[in-house]
Amino acid sequence: MTPTTLLFLSAADIRQALTMSAAIAAVTDAFIRLSAGGALAPPRLHLALPPRDRTVLVMPAWLTGTDTLSVKVIALYGDNPSRSLPLAHALVVVLDAETGRPRAVMDGAALTALRTGAASGAATARLARPEADTAAVIGAGRQARTQLEAVCVVRSIRRATVFDPNGDAAAAFATEMSAALSIPVAPARSADEAVAAAGIVCTATPSATPVFDDDAIRPGTHINAVGAYTPDRREIPGATVARARLVVDSRAACLEEAGDLLLPLGERLIGPPDTWAELGEIAAGHRPGRQSPDEITLFKSVGLAVQDAAAAAAALHAAEALGLGARVEL
Ligand SMILES: NC(=O)c1ccc[n+]([C@@H]2O[C@H](COP(=O)([O-])OP(=O)(O)OC[C@H]3O[C@@H](n4cnc5c(N)ncnc54)[C@H](O)[C@@H]3O)[C@@H](O)[C@H]2O)c1
Repeated sequence: MTPTTLLFLSAADIRQALTMSAAIAAVTDAFIRLSAGGALAPPRLHLALPPRDRTVLVMPAWLTGTDTLSVKVIALYGDNPSRSLPLAHALVVVLDAETGRPRAVMDGAALTALRTGAASGAATARLARPEADTAAVIGAGRQARTQLEAVCVVRSIRRATVFDPNGDAAAAFATEMSAALSIPVAPARSADEAVAAAGIVCTATPSATPVFDDDAIRPGTHINAVGAYTPDRREIPGATVARARLVVDSRAACLEEAGDLLLPLGERLIGPPDTWAELGEIAAGHRPGRQSPDEITLFKSVGLAVQDAAAAAAALHAAEALGLGARVEL
């Protein structure tokens, strides 16, 4: 029997193999397949580790008919940033769909940031006003970086602002992202100041309570809300959710996990889940995207295993073609 080898892809390999626009294409396809019933993806397993804010998620998925499937293990430790450690550590294992043979192991934190940004890119492409040219990012962490990067792929952004209560984090974000994206990125004095000046807003924080005031959001704004993923946490004010066209990554997952929608639903501020469109339905042309220049649109993402499966497959195939990564014999 020939020995089994698998490919190990580091964070740098993943970013070299997969551009943000390729990630947006892969993730858009995954959303379309998911909404059309073309994916196997059971609810993710939450292993909560009390008494601290620590959770390990196990996320398997197969986009049916494709040649690989993936399982991600991601540890989200809320107390890590205060110890100067990353909030999330993760690995993705990619298996051959036909034989179950392991084909790759890759850094899951980099893949997660890429596919989470890509989801917001896919949503922004369909929901933001075409002429939107200003962006605000609330939170200056790992996800915030790929949120802004993805928005800049799908819209001609001229300037951006960032707000984070950690002023050093906001300043570092502004310097790094100005250079990376060749646009001015400036720290704002408050979240309200940032969102009031923006046509596109991304929230990417671990906050349990709304990160801006509803009054600050202008008509016509598109919001990507990716931070909160438990039923008791929300980043977006209920009043903003109530006046927005609601689009989700998955109705089923949001009904389990999205406090941003479940809390306003319990407060009778918003309509039932069948009024929330899935991004895959919009991308397939089955439901409308933005309907008027003045409406507020809100994309709520809790994060799905199918995004990991699609991004991991795209990264693996590109890395194989480019000769990236390290081969390991099992
Ligand atoms: N939807 C998804 O698919 C998805 C994927 C990955 C992570 N997440 C979630 O996104 C959130 C951010 O993750 P990350 O990896 O960027 O974390 P991170 O620790 O790298 O960054 C979070 C940043 O948010 C800032 N922050 C905290 N409260 C804030 C507030 N009220 N206003 C503004 N900024 C605030 C922190 O100071 C920090 O700089 C987490 O809750 C994580 O679970 C979601």
